[in-house]
Amino acid sequence: IAFTLGNGDLPKAILLAEDATAEIYLHGAHVSSFHRHGWGEMLWMSDESNFRTDRPIRGGVPICWPWFGQPQPELPQHGFARTSQWEVIETKAHADPSLEIALRLTDSEATRQLWPHPFELTMRVIVGRDLTMQLSCLNTGEEPLDAEAALHTYFHVQDIDAVRVAGLDGRSYIDKLDAMQGKPQAGELTIDREVDRIYLETPDAVTIHDGAERRIEIQKSGSLSTVVWNPWIDKSAAMADFPNDGYRTMVCVETTNAADDVRTIQPGEVHTITQSCRCEPATGPADP
Ligand code: BG6
Repeated sequence: IAFTLGNGDLPKAILLAEDATAEIYLHGAHVSSFHRHGWGEMLWMSDESNFRTDRPIRGGVPICWPWFGQPQPELPQHGFARTSQWEVIETKAHADPSLEIALRLTDSEATRQLWPHPFELTMRVIVGRDLTMQLSCLNTGEEPLDAEAALHTYFHVQDIDAVRVAGLDGRSYIDKLDAMQGKPQAGELTIDREVDRIYLETPDAVTIHDGAERRIEIQKSGSLSTVVWNPWIDKSAAMADFPNDGYRTMVCVETTNAADDVRTIQPGEVHTITQSCRCEPATGPADP
């Protein structure tokens, strides 16, 4: 595990494991790259992203916390974790052989101005054949707290026209593009327009079928909601930090605690949301 300066001179960690390489910015505890050797890059990054301490990074895995979206107009969209500077608290090499890094964010004067709760938030990233991310919130205060969360993962895909998202069949979703209406999902999801949905009651794995070559398996725990987002043409063009054709090579599938999946954490208790992602061949047996 090496530390260096990344884009915008922001510090980042590089984890060079036997099976994969990953990069994590301390700004936002933001995983910006995961490359399983032989499988290409799994995450999508915007080449027009800001790399500034006061802006989120566009692409990779922003952490949305302690809220998802924008509950009130004066609050920052998707919370403050993704624009905070985290500290590295631990690095480890496992025998399997994977590498692990843990970063921490605790409440400060600035966070208490936005959200009045003491907390200790830990992001563990384990880099092996899988990319595993665990976001744990310990309530260090004396009152219960309510928190939403998202591991807002931008997956790199070959061509959005050939993408199918499986594992959501039969679930209902809140359509953020249609007055938050509840709708049923029938079959696999294909994307041929802007999509912005919060799927409910989704504890199970989701699979992104990425054309003829590969699929990405997303396992999760501590999460009963899943967000799928693609901005499509107009929204891509409207976002300053997003390339106009970026929507063709990305899809966000986000392991979340959002909508009816807000978590109440009692004093002294911890809630952990885990997401584990793996690239595999499009057909044939799963890799052990
Ligand atoms: C998604 C939301 O998760 O994130 C969308 O559902 C939002 O509504 C998108 O547009 C990107 O958000 P931001 O703040 O990173 O531009």
